[in-house]
Amino acid sequence: MREMESRMFEMESTAPRVQLNCIVNGEAVSAMVDPAMTLLNFLRKELKLFGTKEGCGEGECGACTVIMNGLAVNSCLVLAVEAGGARITTVEGLGAGGDLSILQREFMKHDALQCGFCTPGMLMSARALLDRNPDPTMEEVKEAIAGNLCRCTGYVPIVEAVLSAARLEREAGRS
Ligand code: FES
Ligand code: FES
Repeated sequence: MREMESRMFEMESTAPRVQLNCIVNGEAVSAMVDPAMTLLNFLRKELKLFGTKEGCGEGECGACTVIMNGLAVNSCLVLAVEAGGARITTVEGLGAGGDLSILQREFMKHDALQCGFCTPGMLMSARALLDRNPDPTMEEVKEAIAGNLCRCTGYVPIVEAVLSAARLEREAGRS
């Protein structure tokens, strides 16, 4: 039943499309969207930003996490139209000039990913944390990624990567 409801939610509605204006990864985006479309589907299907993943589609796994107005959100639970006027950052917006960010490099260095499916969401939850708290404790990191499920790593390398990135960013004056 749950699955059926979820699929129905994703079907295109017959409602008239509505205007959506927002900023995605620093660029202004303007589109006419189905009012029933999720932000996740808008990012993946309309903007072709495939870094944001769909796991459960119902707020349980964190694979779809993006940053919206400074907060980590599950984009599968946000309607695209709710992002009107918002600033959104996806995993594609983390690096600059084709280079990975410090945070992404530390994930690689610490073997904080294996299959990689959870990684974009993990990175965005970690990024939102470091943006508001550049010197988090281990507990604060664990809390920040508590909504992001990983089947592969056991979480320890992820926490180490975030703490290491925080230290390097402080030393570098932020990346
Ligand atoms: S896909 Fe959004 S929380 Fe799982
Ligand atoms: S690296 Fe596979 S789910 Fe996290």
